[in-house]
Amino acid sequence: MSESNEPITIKSILVAVDGSAYAEKAVRYACAMGPPLGAELILLHVVPMVVSATPYHDTVTDQPFVSLQNLGEDILDRAKKIAASCGCEVTDLLSHGDPASQIIDIASERGISMIIMGSRGVSGLKRLFTGSISDKVSKNASCPVMIVR
Ligand SMILES: Nc1ncnc2c1ncn2[C@@H]1O[C@H](COP(=O)(O)OP(=O)(O)O)[C@@H](O)[C@H]1O
Ligand SMILES: [Mg+2]
Repeated sequence: MSESNEPITIKSILVAVDGSAYAEKAVRYACAMGPPLGAELILLHVVPMVVSATPYHDTVTDQPFVSLQNLGEDILDRAKKIAASCGCEVTDLLSHGDPASQIIDIASERGISMIIMGSRGVSGLKRLFTGSISDKVSKNASCPVMIVR
């Protein structure tokens, strides 16, 4: 942990979006917090790498990958529209892999000041207090993580 007494500046906020209502709420929180702080807002969706019997290189039969990629682009577009409706400028990022690891690694590589994400996502298992991805990110990220409920 940093022992510095330097004032904290929130320069950038990474918002993790998966198309769920929780993540959309996270976008709204980011829009409420980013502009007053002068922070750059970055929306990130990670296209999950799923284990598939279909080879990824086969563009004809590679439905799972293609549709997840398209879905990811739609998710980002929706999130951008929500931000725009809040009067917020954002940049967006699409990455591929394990969602929790990608969120943590991208935040670290870019020196992100804070991550905002939903407490649950599209699978929304009500028995769980928080989703597995928000759980992993909040435990392992090197920056503060705000979980929106
Ligand atoms: N593929 C993803 N890309 C980016 N963010 C994600 C992704 N999946 C989940 N998230 C973020 O994590 C939050 C919690 O989702 P998750 O942990 O997957 O819960 P659940 O198990 O209910 O789906 C979401 O609201 C979203 O902010
Ligand atoms: Mg999920």
